[in-house]
Amino acid sequence: MPGRSIDGFGDDVIRFYGSTDRRIFEIERRCMDRDGSVISFLGETLPRGRVLDVGAGDGYTAERLNGDGRIVVAMEPDPGMVAAERSLIWASGVAQDVPFHDDSFDAAYSTWAFFLSGTSPEVLAAGLAEVQRVVRTGGLIVVIDNAGGDEFTSLTDRPLSGDPSWWVDRGFEHRTLRTSFRFDSLEEARELLEYYFGEGVREKVDKTEISYNVAAYTGVSGEVTT
Ligand SMILES: C[S@@+](CC[C@H](N)C(=O)[O-])C[C@H]1O[C@@H](n2cnc3c(N)ncnc32)[C@H](O)[C@@H]1O
Repeated sequence: MPGRSIDGFGDDVIRFYGSTDRRIFEIERRCMDRDGSVISFLGETLPRGRVLDVGAGDGYTAERLNGDGRIVVAMEPDPGMVAAERSLIWASGVAQDVPFHDDSFDAAYSTWAFFLSGTSPEVLAAGLAEVQRVVRTGGLIVVIDNAGGDEFTSLTDRPLSGDPSWWVDRGFEHRTLRTSFRFDSLEEARELLEYYFGEGVREKVDKTEISYNVAAYTGVSGEVTT
């Protein structure tokens, strides 16, 4: 993928372990939402036409939404994340500075990337304003994040979920999708969850399916505020 190295984005990038710990990331991507609830929701919600994936990672989601009249542009700042073998249009960029002209897209979505808990409200607002700039008026913007209230987030005291009111106050609709992490073995479950949450978690994990709630925020470009 042409473009800047990840360092070229400076502090704009939220560093993600997926480019350095490929094996752990492979477990995450394979076991998270195996039933495809998030892909189904996005597939039913997003229009045909040009759609931007903000923080596309390895392109897993973009590949499944691309096609049948929908052209997904997978934008990702970390070259180490990009699975270039996926037949996608890739772009190098961050939510705060999208490398496209105004009104280039009919819709945009972001799954667990940038628009996350822990990102300051000012930075979130800047990213949202930038995504609105490139999505034509009336086009959809969909953000996917952790919802909490499930077995997954109960494994840690760390705040993992975004604040729905931040989105609702700006005019987004909020819904919860119920899915799970389903692992092939207990050892695999323990390995990933210990990697996320630290040593104490291993003993708490005694099954291979862990419930996981996902927040979906849906707004209309030109109508939501930043
Ligand atoms: C948890 S991964 C999610 C990847 C993908 N969306 C998925 O669902 O598998 C977060 C991704 O966001 C990217 N990212 C980090 N900072 C970003 C930013 N400022 N704008 C857009 N993407 C960013 C990371 O490089 C990483 O690939």
